[in-house]
Amino acid sequence: MTGRYAAGRAAAARASALIPRGVSSAMRADQRPVALHVTRAQGSRMWDVDGHEYVDYVLGFGAAFLGHAPPAVVAAVAEQARHGFAPGAQHAAEAAVAELVVACVPSAEMVAPMTTGSEAVHAAVRLARATTGRRPIVKFAGHYHGWLDPVFVGVPGSPAIEAPQLGGAPGTAGAAGDGSVVLCPFNDAAALEQALAGGTEPVAGVLMEPVPCNFGTFAPDAGYLERARELCDAAGAVLIFDEVITGFRMALGGAQERFGVTPDLTVLSKGIASGMPVAALAGREAVMRVAAGAMSIVGTYNGTPVPLAAARATLTELVRRAPELYPAVDAFSARLAGELRDLAGAHGAPLVVEQIGPVLQLLWAPRTPVRSYADASQHDRAAVARLAELLLDEGVNALARGLWFVSPEHGEEDLARTVAAVDRALGRLGAERGAAARGAPGGAVA
Ligand SMILES: Cc1ncc(COP(=O)(O)O)c(C=O)c1O
Repeated sequence: MTGRYAAGRAAAARASALIPRGVSSAMRADQRPVALHVTRAQGSRMWDVDGHEYVDYVLGFGAAFLGHAPPAVVAAVAEQARHGFAPGAQHAAEAAVAELVVACVPSAEMVAPMTTGSEAVHAAVRLARATTGRRPIVKFAGHYHGWLDPVFVGVPGSPAIEAPQLGGAPGTAGAAGDGSVVLCPFNDAAALEQALAGGTEPVAGVLMEPVPCNFGTFAPDAGYLERARELCDAAGAVLIFDEVITGFRMALGGAQERFGVTPDLTVLSKGIASGMPVAALAGREAVMRVAAGAMSIVGTYNGTPVPLAAARATLTELVRRAPELYPAVDAFSARLAGELRDLAGAHGAPLVVEQIGPVLQLLWAPRTPVRSYADASQHDRAAVARLAELLLDEGVNALARGLWFVSPEHGEEDLARTVAAVDRALGRLGAERGAAARGAPGGAVA
């Protein structure tokens, strides 16, 4: 094979013969022209098997918030690795990490260490049901909570996604079809009130990304989270914030600190351990104590020492640097978003850039203002995916779905490279679309 991605294509062909889609997590297969095979990742950069260097805005799907391989975390992992991986017994880092989470996250009074976000959501749902003795869970259209049943509904790629679910008709039963998961549109307090009041069974829990970051990042309306809190209290339902993306990123205490609303349970994962597989379910003691009674949390890899060494070092670093780190990464992200908007304007491209803290979302001609999944879903996904593909050629790695993660490691040189790359990529995209429009008279090309 020849060309810019020759070694990458060969590696992908080898993997595809053995691994479904050639990737370990299906979302990685969205990358074009080839799912990157990487040799090294450091700070804000990574390198592929063809030797190209990239400014990286994927950051391990957000897991490497501090940038790739932070030295303090690498040292902690190396040190712990010499002392064993899985004793199947307790060790000091578990309580140390729990103390750090309690110190950082407003809702956290107790903490259960786990391995992935999906299973920590699963534990939260079970805990809400065990606490209330009820079954239905309300979730929101477009909010992603991992790939496990029953919450893998109402998002692209999930089974039985239907048009009304995209709009999030209040009270729509999810794919389980048995009323155990009820879909609701986000930023619509009346719909949530109806979902909590209107069903045949009382609701056990309300599960949300407090800032929806999957499938069209946008902010909660002023007062919406507060109203959700009130409605859950009135209905006796457990409010669960899935802060897998927002935790330790929107602020040291996550979206709940940034927006000043405290849930009963919080799911944490990306950002907690610099990319090592660690998740945590945290919450109010009264709810968490149910996990020591009516239900149990179990897992061979829960709280194993090497990932927890990474978590301890990461959280220690975040706490130490928080006063300068969060304002700086927010300011850098705002500048980046501003530069992208300016470039879009200069190219006459209908590119909308949402930015909330260190998370950016690129949308091509969405319905604005973007307040719901339905608004974001109007956008031209193919254009944003093509932009990501063109950017890869220019040395910028970004997700095909337009979600960009910024780390405190991104700096002036990254910004300059990114601006130059986006300028060239938008130029190529505009030329392609112009040619397509001329070749297909009457074709709707934004
Ligand atoms: C908000 C949210 N919740 C849960 C998950 C699932 O986490 P994991 O992939 O670790 O299972 C993700 C993953 O992207 C996520 O973004």
